[in-house]
Formats: sequence, structure tokens, C-alpha cells
Amino acid sequence: MACPSISLVLRVTLIATIALAGIIVLILMYHQSIPSPMCHPTPNRSKRPHRPVALSDAKQPQSVAGTQQKDKPLMLLWFWPEDKKFDFQDCKTLFNMDGCHLTDDRSLYSRAHDVLIFHRAIKDDLSNLPTSPRAGIQRWIWFNMDLPKNTRRIAGIQGLFNLTLSYRKEADIRVRWQLTHKRNTDEDFVLPKKERLLCWILDTEDLDAKSGEGYKYFQKLVTHIKVDVIHTSSGKFLNGENYFQIISSCKFYLSFENSVDRDYITETFNGPLAAGTVPIVLGPPRSNYEDLVPGSSFIHVNDFSDAEKLAEFLQTLDKDSKAYERYFDWRQFYNARRHPTEQNREFAHAICQACQDVGLKRVYRDIPDLYKGFM
Ligand SMILES: *[C@@H]1O[C@H](CO)[C@@H](O)[C@H](O)[C@H]1NC(C)=O
Ligand SMILES: *[C@@H]1O[C@H](CO)[C@@H](O)[C@H](O)[C@H]1NC(C)=O
Repeated sequence: MACPSISLVLRVTLIATIALAGIIVLILMYHQSIPSPMCHPTPNRSKRPHRPVALSDAKQPQSVAGTQQKDKPLMLLWFWPEDKKFDFQDCKTLFNMDGCHLTDDRSLYSRAHDVLIFHRAIKDDLSNLPTSPRAGIQRWIWFNMDLPKNTRRIAGIQGLFNLTLSYRKEADIRVRWQLTHKRNTDEDFVLPKKERLLCWILDTEDLDAKSGEGYKYFQKLVTHIKVDVIHTSSGKFLNGENYFQIISSCKFYLSFENSVDRDYITETFNGPLAAGTVPIVLGPPRSNYEDLVPGSSFIHVNDFSDAEKLAEFLQTLDKDSKAYERYFDWRQFYNARRHPTEQNREFAHAICQACQDVGLKRVYRDIPDLYKGFM
């Protein structure tokens, strides 16, 4: 007897559900079709806001490059930073980034969609900047990898740029070493053979490295645990070993940044991750590192009250291989890519990253005050 009314209720519920679903779909479509003019321009990638920023999909650059093959923007590198020149092909071969056509030929200025300008090379002389008028769509990108405290405030350039390129989180184009998602074709991780416990590569010519907080911490640490210090001068090793070989032979590596500053996490951290070694970090707070990698992949000096406690912990891990190996659990899901170690490629990653991103971010904007926010 109750059957007709139940089916009626069901039918009404069904119709209501379908109608509701339709409305939700319409709302979603509407929201995705209008860009929000108020907020900071974001590329299409940002439709996945809850994904950790640094864990990029290794497959993504390739497909993006593929679809934009025809209309890739032209990017002019106005100065070679510190005169360190590399082959633009490196962007594709080393980083799988080729979102733009790169050139250093200034005669192409008027045709360039983007002009990448290395801050330090302006040298307080605005005549070092392009002087001819820029086309409406052309964007100037401020390129600065220095720490705020080391960045010279050059007068008169505050209002000239459209995008910023730096290691800082708030930069339009952020340069950082990031993990890539593992593809099923990738090889399984095998822990390299370990011959040393704790290592540190120290560039004898790098005076900052010997004056900073890291060196002070090292001096305390070394009174409690043996540290193999490998000296290099300008990245050259005496015995012909290479950087990654040395690091991979160590269980732990001192990834001490020369300066403790927000977002300032450099190759010294990427090196051990790529080599299959546990980084001991000294730099910005743990949470800042966890923007880039899983928290269980490294040890932070701040996790311990002092150097002695850290040394004890490392000695415990040295005897407990199960606990040590847990620091590599992330390798089931991610890969860390080796960074180039040649001097001339010091800025290659930043330049390639800019090239990759301009293909994705065709946004118009200007930066009223460059230094505000950065400093
Ligand atoms: C963003 O995605 C939409 C479709 O989802 C596409 O039409 C558009 O070209 C993309 N924009 C960029 C800058 O990639
Ligand atoms: C770039 O910035 C300049 C200076 O603020 C501005 O005049 C120009 O319209 C901007 N261009 C684009 C493409 O956003």
C-alpha cells in the first residue's frame, strides 16, 4: 500500500538531486571561467591549491611544452648573470623545461615577450637597461637570487617590472629545488653504499661559509662526533671524486645554509636528497623545509636542544639501520633530481624556470614598488 508514495518520494528526491547537481556544476563552471581580478595572478596549475607546492608532477612540464609548441613566447636574457653562460638547450635536457624560446640576442628586444633582467648587473646605472620603448605585451622580469640583506636598492627601478623571479615564496616565479612525483617507469630507490657517517663539503674560498651560524654549530658538533670535512676550492675536488659520489657515501650530510633566512634553501639541501643521504639542516625553520619535502626526509638542528644531543641521536641511528632507512620512505613516491654543479650553470635553473613559467603565466600586471615585500 505504501509503495506508490515511496516511489513518489524517491522520484521527487531524485529530481531534486539532479537539479541540485546541475546548479552546482553551473556554479563551478562559472567560477572557473572568470579569472579573479583582485588576487595575485596564478597559473592554471594552481587549481590544485591543496597539493604541496613543491611536489610537482614530473610529467607536467612535458605536456605543457607539447601543447604550447607553436606559440611559445620569446624570452630575452638581457644580462648573463656574473657572465656565467650556459647552453639554452640545458633547460630541456637538464630540467625538462622549455616553455619559451630563450635568446640573449639584444637585437630581438622589440620582439621579445619577456625580458629577464638580472638585478645586480644593472649596477646603479639605468642606461644598462633596455632604452627603447617596450611593446604593450612585453613584460620585464626582475631576476634576483640574492638575500634581501645583500640586495642593493637601485634607485629608479621600483616601478619598471611586471614579474619577479627569486627564491622567495611570494615571487611570481619561484626558484627552488623540488621533488618530482615518481613515475612507474622510474627505478626503485636503492640505498647507496655508506662508507662515512657524517660529511660536510666546505668550499675553502667561500668566506661566508666560515663566518656563519653553520660554522659555529659545526665547531660544537665536531667535539661530539666525527665529521668528514671534504675541502674543495670553487667546486673542484682534489681526488677527482664528484660531488654526488662523495655525498652518497655518507649516511648524513651537513646541509648548512650560509645564511638563515626565510625560504633560503639551496643546493646544499638538494645535494643529499638527490644522492640518497639524510640532510642535517641548519637554515630557516623546519616548516619552511616542509613546504618542499616530507618532514621525515631530513633532520633539523632545531629538533635538538644542542649539538651534543644531535650527535647522540646520529650515533643511535648509525646503529639502527631500520630507523635510518625510514628517512628514505618518501623515495617510494618522489624523486630528487641532481642539480648541475658546474660554475657556469649556477643560474641555469632560475633562467630555465623563468622560461618554463612565462609560457604558463600570460598575465598583465605591474609592480608599483619592487622592494616592498621583498625586503
Ligand atoms: C588555462 O586552462 C584553460 C582551460 O582549462 C585554457 O583554455 C587556457 O588556455 C589555460 N591558460 C593557460 C595560461 O595555460
Ligand atoms: C609592465 O609594467 C609596466 C610598468 O609598470 C607597465 O607600464 C606595463 O603596462 C606592464 N606590462 C604588462 C604586459 O603587464
